[in-house]
Order: sequence, then structure tokens, then C-alpha cells
Amino acid sequence: MPTLLHIDSSPLYGGSVSRELTAAFVTQWKATHPDGKVIERDLNATTILPISAEWVGAVYTPADARSAEQNKLLELSDALVAELEQADEYVIGVPMHNFGVPSALKLWVDQISRVGKTFSYADGAPKGLLVGKKATFLIATGGIYDAQTQMASYNFVEPYLRSLFGFLGVTDATFLTAGGTMALNHGQDRAAFLAPHLQAVQTQAKTIGGQA
Ligand SMILES: Cc1cc2nc3c(=O)[nH]c(=O)nc-3n(C[C@H](O)[C@H](O)[C@H](O)COP(=O)(O)O)c2cc1C
Repeated sequence: MPTLLHIDSSPLYGGSVSRELTAAFVTQWKATHPDGKVIERDLNATTILPISAEWVGAVYTPADARSAEQNKLLELSDALVAELEQADEYVIGVPMHNFGVPSALKLWVDQISRVGKTFSYADGAPKGLLVGKKATFLIATGGIYDAQTQMASYNFVEPYLRSLFGFLGVTDATFLTAGGTMALNHGQDRAAFLAPHLQAVQTQAKTIGGQA
């Protein structure tokens, strides 16, 4: 039974483009995998504190030597890592904020990047421990950052996520971007804008598990 981890990180709900795209992905994925399981993680509905010195201390204390307080500090991190381990596929909605990922997603990244759990330096070289996973990132940006455009070098969303997830072992990653959503604030018809992106997302959801 395949398991999909569905993550959203836009603070907007009804008006969010990335949330609408991940919802369409999940609907199609469920139709393709009637026996599949979906784990939902809404990062804007999850309270994630910035990491602290105590948190770092707990991470670098061997698991069998941690105090009850240290275990408590790592409880959320452990749960978020377990979701990544349990799932075979990930769909992650990402709005561009200030040329990077939104702060809710960065807080999550800090919780799930765990030495000995999601990566290791066992032989002196970094090794990702999330192996055999397939990730789809559905990104929404107000402007357009296509390669060859003047703005391409301002896009720190896709390069960051590609590097970070690659470091964690997730090398099978697909990035679909709905660029230019600011047009929606200037009278562009939402359905017409979204149509090609929804089409691409549905195709990806059908084919990602190799069951087109
Ligand atoms: C706080 C904030 C910062 C933003 N920063 C950028 C930016 O740096 N570049 C850009 O092209 N769009 C920027 N936008 C526009 C969003 O990327 C755009 O509205 C996108 O559709 C957000 O995804 P969502 O609709 O899923 O929330 C920003 C929007 C917000 C709310």
C-alpha cells in the first residue's frame, strides 16, 4: 500500500495557488491508488518553534543517554521525521516568499534535518538516509523566474529544495512551478490561469508511482 505525505506551507488558504495544486494532486493520486494512504501535514497549522541551544544539545546527545526533557524537546521533530520515513512519495506545496521558501517550511526543514536520522556523516562523507522516495514540489510565485530570464538568479526556492532534499537522499524530485500568480491580482481569470498547471499536476500524480 503506497503512502503519500501531503505538505502545505502557504499561509493563505482559499486564495492559495500552491494549496489548490497540491489538493488536485492528492485527489488524482487517491484515484490512481485507491488502496493508498495519505498523511496530511499543514505547516501553517503546526506550531514549530525555532531550534534552540537545548534542542541542538538534545540532537547531539546519543538517543539512549537523553533525559526525559530532551526526549520531549525532540518529540515533534521525531514525529515529522517519522512521516517522511513512512511515506513513499511526497507532494509539497511551496509559495515563494521573499525569493525563498516561507518561514513555516524553513522551520520544518530545521526539524527534519537530523544527523543519524535523515542524513549521516558515517564515513566522513554526507549520506542521505531518506532513500527510495519520490518528491513533487508544487511552487507558486508572484513573478516569473524561468531560466534565461533576468530574474532567474533571484529564485532561491527550487535550487534550495533540490540541494536540501538531495542531501537528505531524495534525489528523485520533480518541480512544477506556477509562475506569475500576481496576474490574478490584476484581473487574470483564475480558472484560465490554473488550467495548464492543474493539467500538469494531474499528469504528474498519475505517473509518479509508475501507474499511468
Ligand atoms: C510575504 C510574501 C512574500 C512574497 N514574496 C515574493 C517574492 O519574493 N517573489 C515573488 O515572485 N512573489 C512573492 N510573493 C507572491 C507569492 O509568491 C504568490 O502570491 C504565490 O502565489 C504564493 O503562493 P500561494 O498562492 O500558494 O500562497 C510573496 C507573497 C507573500 C505573501
